[in-house]
Amino acid sequence: MATRKHLGNDFVIEQGWDRYASRDHAIWRALFERQSRLVQGRACREYLDGLGALGVAADGIPDFRRLNDVLGKATRWSIVAVPGLVPDEVFFAHLAERRFPATNWIRPPEQMDYLEEPDVFHDVFGHVPMLANPVFADYLEAYGKGGLKALRLGALPHLARLYWYTVEFGLIRTGEGLRIYGSGIVSSRGETVYCLESAEPKRIAFDLRRVMRTRYRIDDFQPLYFVIDSFEQLFEATAPDFTPLFAWLKGQSDIEPGALVPGDREIAIGT
Ligand code: PHE
Ligand code: FE
Repeated sequence: MATRKHLGNDFVIEQGWDRYASRDHAIWRALFERQSRLVQGRACREYLDGLGALGVAADGIPDFRRLNDVLGKATRWSIVAVPGLVPDEVFFAHLAERRFPATNWIRPPEQMDYLEEPDVFHDVFGHVPMLANPVFADYLEAYGKGGLKALRLGALPHLARLYWYTVEFGLIRTGEGLRIYGSGIVSSRGETVYCLESAEPKRIAFDLRRVMRTRYRIDDFQPLYFVIDSFEQLFEATAPDFTPLFAWLKGQSDIEPGALVPGDREIAIGT
């Protein structure tokens, strides 16, 4: 039977791996070499394990077909190629089915440090390693289902903040100190160092309501990070039905990006 999915409304395209030019692979290599060194001792163990297990390596832009062999066995996730940002409902529907939409293009050499839209380096180096972790993999599926529901409830701006402050810019407290799991950080040279070492940004303990009230900046390093203690904590805190939470949020004011409010638990850099 022909469903929406088969009519191309899922925005999925071929990655077209054979069409990458050698200069595209060279850009990947340069980014990979720089970033894979920088994330050692800064990204969390789950991320680094995933990076190793998937064989996301320095030789060039990975072929999604290869990645999918490994990722499928690890957590039943797969990567699908899309041409760029896709509509919210399409994005959530993919996540809900354990498919991660990854862009297939790579940035030009003038934009090694700053991009406004995700490219294949951000999507694959940043996001895919965490998908090899079973708890995070389940969290992202739940997020996709939650996204479809939030769309129906008109609560998308609040839910989007959860993605931003966890999937993209999350920090985690480990026995060895603060570590990164957010993909927007691990794919950024500057922010990988800044988020852990700069005295400028605030780092506070994860609190679901607080996250959903907090606006975010897309044009600069984050002035505030939320710190989880474990992926289980994140999964459990977000498991309850958000319907009453969304209703409560309607009566709450937003919190400005870098502000601290009463009740915030600051996390020191050395923890
Ligand atoms: N528990 C959420 C709901 O009922 C779904 C969700 C899970 C959203 C995990 C985000 C992350 O809406
Ligand atoms: Fe991203």
